[in-house]
Amino acid sequence: KISIRDIPLKGKRVLVRVDYNVPLELDKATNSYVVTDQTRILETLDTLKYLIDQDAKIILISHLGRPKGKKNTKESLAPVAPLLSGLLGTKVKFIGDCIGPEVDKEKESLKEGEVLLLENTRFYAGEEKNDPEFAKALASHIDVYVNDAFGSAHRAHASTEGVCHFIKQKAIGFLMEKELKYLGEELKDPQRPFVVILGGAKVSDKIEVINKLLEKADCLLIGGAMAYTFLLTMGHKVGKSLVETDKKAVAQEALEKAKERKVKFLLPIDHLVAESIDFEQRIAKTLEFTAAIDIPEQRLGVDIGPQTMEAYRKEIITAKTLLWNGPMGIFEIPGCEKGTFSIAKSIAENPSAVSIVAGGDSIKALHRSGLSDRVSFISTGGGATLDFLKGKVLPGIESIPDK
Ligand code: 3PG
Repeated sequence: KISIRDIPLKGKRVLVRVDYNVPLELDKATNSYVVTDQTRILETLDTLKYLIDQDAKIILISHLGRPKGKKNTKESLAPVAPLLSGLLGTKVKFIGDCIGPEVDKEKESLKEGEVLLLENTRFYAGEEKNDPEFAKALASHIDVYVNDAFGSAHRAHASTEGVCHFIKQKAIGFLMEKELKYLGEELKDPQRPFVVILGGAKVSDKIEVINKLLEKADCLLIGGAMAYTFLLTMGHKVGKSLVETDKKAVAQEALEKAKERKVKFLLPIDHLVAESIDFEQRIAKTLEFTAAIDIPEQRLGVDIGPQTMEAYRKEIITAKTLLWNGPMGIFEIPGCEKGTFSIAKSIAENPSAVSIVAGGDSIKALHRSGLSDRVSFISTGGGATLDFLKGKVLPGIESIPDK
């Protein structure tokens, strides 16, 4: 892909699509919204600093949340501007719209090295509809389009795809480049053993990823509720655990494919179980370990057990390439997070491997264990990362030409 390094940027008006879809919380003291996780913003700094150094005129666009075409304060990008100003050490001007005469005026008056942040693109229905008129308005007064929003690359929206039809010069930014290096190049021909740790609640969410990874991985370690559907398919007792009975056939196919391709497919051999879970109160009733694969009738699985943690650790510490996506248990309920933390710790025990972590809960566990700097790469994508791993074409990447 053409990168920002490949094109002259001095004096050019550069529209940078970033993914600042970050969590916001109302600060009661100041009655204003604040960003509670800055990761996605921090990850764009290299690109922005480079563009400033190149004397480009920088215009930032992003979506935030799912406002469905309606403007509102809860999903405004305004709180990002002061934060970004501090991080860049240069003033970031914010304007409460992303198209129109006022925005065009601001774009025109922008000087070299200055940064302008526009309002949430999803405040217009044209964004998600990929309306050409809206895309054209975004492209007005722009010389170069840069896509650094890997997290949004799976969306064919006006700011990720449509806008490209109205701007000649296009490139990817450094964050996009990094995502493609790790998720693309490193996993294309991975150093072996290549061990994948996959968790999450549903087989249906992950089956395409599993099937794709079965073509490449040496070993798959499965956790989360989807493990119970696999165990049920194999004839084990799963008690009251969350299962997708209608996914037994696809689970069976995946198990057969693993056998055929001689991929180790490890499932939990013991569990943390509970009598019931109150998601509202965030309480698990009567937590206890079972030392067996089968789960008692009146219990549901909520995390992997200690023998499973050790079995998974053994695979992780001898791997040369590691990919982790998804929690091992009901991570958000106190007492049910140990399995997920154990994966973070095991990965940190193997610093010489190329390790890639993706997905909200896995990243949270990594941050909370203070081990974030012990992995090679943390992906900023959610759905985009999974689609990429499935081998899907991502419109936000496709619309940037190759070198
Ligand atoms: C994400 O958080 O995964 C991206 O920003 C995309 O958001 P979306 O799922 O609302 O399109």
